[in-house]
Amino acid sequence: MNKRPLARFPALRLRRPRMSDWSRRLYAETRLSPDDFLWAIILKDGEGVREPIEAMPGVFRLSPDEAAKAAKQAKSLGIPALALFPYTDADGRTPAGEEALNPDNLMCRAARAIKDAVPDIGLMADVALDPYTDHGHDGLLKDGEILNDETIEVLVAQSVNQARAGFDIMAPSDMMDGRVGAIRAGLDAEGFQNVQIMAYAAKYASAFYGPYREAIGSAGVLKGDKRTYQMNPANSDEALPEVALDLAEGADSVMVKPGGAYLDIVRRVKDAFRAPTFVFQVSGEYAMIKAASANGWLDGERAMMESLLAFKRAGADGIITYFAAEAAALLQKN
Ligand code: PBG
Repeated sequence: MNKRPLARFPALRLRRPRMSDWSRRLYAETRLSPDDFLWAIILKDGEGVREPIEAMPGVFRLSPDEAAKAAKQAKSLGIPALALFPYTDADGRTPAGEEALNPDNLMCRAARAIKDAVPDIGLMADVALDPYTDHGHDGLLKDGEILNDETIEVLVAQSVNQARAGFDIMAPSDMMDGRVGAIRAGLDAEGFQNVQIMAYAAKYASAFYGPYREAIGSAGVLKGDKRTYQMNPANSDEALPEVALDLAEGADSVMVKPGGAYLDIVRRVKDAFRAPTFVFQVSGEYAMIKAASANGWLDGERAMMESLLAFKRAGADGIITYFAAEAAALLQKN
């Protein structure tokens, strides 16, 4: 498909369209726009808090009032939505992560502050227990096993709690089997038919989440790893039933995560399902570009834009990224 009959050199000179800026722009197959971004934001309790995260230069833990300021900035930059993640210290964590269900927890307070400040910005909530459990896992832990069906019940309650606070998109990142259908039913039963689900459908057990776990306070507490529920980085075929099931259960969109090392998965998923497909450029990807650029080893701005463009080229419809504001500002300038 899509085979154009090729002339031969010297009639065919593939460099010809690359010879000038106007022509390169005219021939560009993919484009980035602020419309492509969900801005990943880390929250922390308090007021007026902007706490640097060591492994993520330029990213700060923000208190709800500061997150509301970020939302105004996002609005002026044309970024459609924010994705929120809460930091919880060791004292705020429990074995079953009950704080996830507190209607006044950090996520809910931030959502209300943001919607007060910018009513028409999209808000995505992570659905998983890892910010709240004292073992750092995404689900309930019993005798060394992460319980699937029992965890789902809590995730449904967490979703309803977050929907009540004003979140527009639930993004289950836990990788339990069957959670999308249960969350859909749970939201509908509470009158939240219009709250979307973006399923972390193909989420891999990845080393690239390292800085995030520090950012949300899970790094010190996580016992073991997440390989019994997150996917094996060796696998590609397995991503297809993960996506198929989530779509069949009512996901409005699906996500591949991490991004840069999984562009092949993004392309396969997009080609196989033609569904709205998102990709998460995770904390470690951000950290690598920032660290190399701080050392003068690469041009940080160009590496940022190239990494983002690559997601679009691979077939992504949108990108969750810590770079959203920086990249959108650059796009606005140019
Ligand atoms: C966990 C969750 C993770 C991220 C988003 N939600 C990490 C994990 O699975 O341990 C990673 C985000 C990032 O690295 O930027 N529910």
